[in-house]
Amino acid sequence: MNKKLYIQTLGCAMNERDSEHIIAELEEKENYQITTNPQEADLILINTCSVREKPEKKLFSEIGQYAKIKKNDAKIGICGCTASHLGESILKRSKAVDFVLGARNVSKISQIIHQKRVAWVDIDYDDSSYIFSSKQNSILKGMINISIGCDKKCTYCIVPHTRGNEISIPTHLIINEAKRLANQGTKEILLLGQNVNNYGKRFSIPHRKINFTQLLYEISQIDGIQRIRFTSPHPLHMDDEFIEEFAHNPKLCKAIHMPLQSGSTKILQKMKRGYTKEWFLNRVEKMYSLIPHLSISTDIIVGFPTESEEDFLDTLDVLEKVQFDTLYSFIYSSRPHTEAAKWIENKEVGEIDEEEAKRRLILLKDKHRDILTQNNQKELNNIHSILFESYDEQNKLLEGRSDTNKLIRVKAGRNLVGEICKVKISEIKGAQLIGELM
Ligand code: 5AD
Ligand code: SF4
Repeated sequence: MNKKLYIQTLGCAMNERDSEHIIAELEEKENYQITTNPQEADLILINTCSVREKPEKKLFSEIGQYAKIKKNDAKIGICGCTASHLGESILKRSKAVDFVLGARNVSKISQIIHQKRVAWVDIDYDDSSYIFSSKQNSILKGMINISIGCDKKCTYCIVPHTRGNEISIPTHLIINEAKRLANQGTKEILLLGQNVNNYGKRFSIPHRKINFTQLLYEISQIDGIQRIRFTSPHPLHMDDEFIEEFAHNPKLCKAIHMPLQSGSTKILQKMKRGYTKEWFLNRVEKMYSLIPHLSISTDIIVGFPTESEEDFLDTLDVLEKVQFDTLYSFIYSSRPHTEAAKWIENKEVGEIDEEEAKRRLILLKDKHRDILTQNNQKELNNIHSILFESYDEQNKLLEGRSDTNKLIRVKAGRNLVGEICKVKISEIKGAQLIGELM
């Protein structure tokens, strides 16, 4: 009889990928089968995120909920960034937790489930063990880690503490994985790393010199891989060579995540982001001049310590100029082990009033909603290549994503899942785009 695994995944694409690894390991080596019902699970895992304080605070009440409804002998394990960050103290605080496994230790999942009340959270280990079995949600799309950890020291960010130093995965392992995916029918791959375009900076084994742009080129030479996406790049490392390759290589999807964080050069300096407002706008301008239909998404933090009204207006100015397609926005949340948290602790800087930060967040979101409406209106009659991912037989409705990552629905008499087809946008219903096959 199979044992049942319930897994809850919080946070970023990296965590989703780690969960894929965990599921595959437990299915292959330990005879587990996934369930969506925690009540029937033999093992309950929470793959946690610690980037902001709120989800971390919720963790212990969630553990309590699971402990109440779980089967008698079912185990509870805490994985991911909060596991790295809080380590053994999770075991001390909650008797219900059986083990704690850090974000950089997920490859040890099939060993730790046999241990009692342990925390494995060290961050020096052989990265080659990182490429191991994976369980894809869809055969059409696959994710590949190209680096782990982060070497930047953005002053608000806990990630370098939880995921450790940046190490690039050897190129041949990435290429082999991409070929394996292509052979099984995968059309689109998503390359993952905290800071993907710093690829090649450090390997744990002797390695030829290579950078991110060269890696993209090499992966794009693999037959069968038709689309390549990546997340997250850092605006600082977007040099001209990268932008040229990005613009001219047809396999590179024309959607990019450019985490702005703030539009104020003063705040960017305090955040230690390494670029200015002008650099960011210059990179965007260059990309738009080569790829007019490019879709750009971003992350913005409001209420970073010392952010004035003027600084915030700079952020709104960049929002207006770039017309981001997607915005992920957050109120600054002070995190342990970060430089900004130390400034606050030492009373070197004051925190921004919560109500004021909320006002800024609402304003930012409102402005972005207007931009989104305008961007959507411009889509009428545009032509996109769509990779179809699902077909609703009853309503004869295909659904897929454009290379600019927009969800598009198309009425069609036949199932074209797995095909990439040209589609003309014929209708816009609120945020939803509807197209016709060409
Ligand atoms: N407070 C608020 N937002 C944060 N992020 C990272 N750290 C913090 C923090 N301390 C946001 C950044 C990052 C995204 C993943 O989360 O915008 O790009
Ligand atoms: Fe955090 Fe900055 Fe590294 Fe991104 S680049 S993970 S924001 S430290």
